[in-house]
Amino acid sequence: MSHMSTETVLSVHHWNDTLFSFRTSRNPAFRFEAGQFAMIGLMVEGRPLLRAYSMACAAYDEQLEFLSIKVPHGPLTSRLQAIAPGDEVLIGRKATGTLLLDNLTPGRRLYLLSTGTGLAPFMSLIRDPATYERFERIVLVHGVRRVSELAYEDVIRRQLPNDELIGGMAAAQLVYHPTVTREDYPHRGRVTELFSSPGWFASHGLPVAEPEHDRVMLCGSPAMLADMKPILERRGFLEGSSSAPATYVVERAFVEK
Ligand code: A2P
Repeated sequence: MSHMSTETVLSVHHWNDTLFSFRTSRNPAFRFEAGQFAMIGLMVEGRPLLRAYSMACAAYDEQLEFLSIKVPHGPLTSRLQAIAPGDEVLIGRKATGTLLLDNLTPGRRLYLLSTGTGLAPFMSLIRDPATYERFERIVLVHGVRRVSELAYEDVIRRQLPNDELIGGMAAAQLVYHPTVTREDYPHRGRVTELFSSPGWFASHGLPVAEPEHDRVMLCGSPAMLADMKPILERRGFLEGSSSAPATYVVERAFVEK
C-alpha cells in the first residue's frame, strides 16, 4: 500500500441526491497538474476499493477536492457518499491523465466541454493561473440533465471572480455556459448541439471554433465523447498527447459505480 496515502476528510458537500464533493488533507509530497486524476478509495473488508477521480482543486491548494456521483448500490460510491469529516480515505500517490495544457499546442481560445462529473478536472484548470496565461479566452460548458446537477455553479459565478489569485483573470477571460437538457433553465441543449451551432458561438461573441486558433478539452460521459470526437475531427481538430501535443484532448469522467 506504499503507493497510497491515508488522508483525512475535512468537509463534504452534497449538491443533491446524486452528486457530492469532498475535501481532504493533502500529503505534501503529492504533486499533480491541473486536469489530472488519481486513484481514490476506501478500505473495504480489509482491501482497498479504488476508483479514478480527477482533482477539482487547484494544483497549489493545500487540501484536495473531488467531485463524485452517488450510485445507490455502487461498490465504492455507495460507501463514499457516507463519509464525514474526520474519516479516512485512500489517495494514490501518483497523478496522471491527458487533460493537460502541455498536451495542446498554443492557441487563442480554450474550450472545456464537460457533462456530469466531467466538470471536475476543469474546476482545477479554471483555478490555475497558467490556463489564463496561455489562452485569451476560456469557455467552460457544463451539460447536465437537471438544474440541481450544476455543481459549482455558484463557485464559478460568484467565488471565482473574487478569488485573490485568479479572480481578475477569471472575470475577464472565463465564459461559463451551464446547460440543462431535461428541465427548464435559461440555457438548454446538449454540449454537442451547442458546439455545432454557429448561433451559440455568436451568442458569446465568439467565432465558430476552428483548429487554427481554438483548443478543446473534453471530459464527460462516453456517449458525449463518442459524439464530440467526429464533430471535432470533421473540422480538422487532431487529438493530442504528451508525446504529440495537438488541438484537442479527451478524458472520460471516471466514477460510474
Ligand atoms: P440528455 O438529457 O439529452 O441525455 P448523463 O447524466 O446521462 O451522463 O448526461 C449528462 C448530460 O449529457 C445530459 O445533459 C445529457 O443529455 C448529455 N448527453 C448524453 N449523451 C450525450 C451525447 N451523446 N452527446 C452530448 N450530450 C449528451
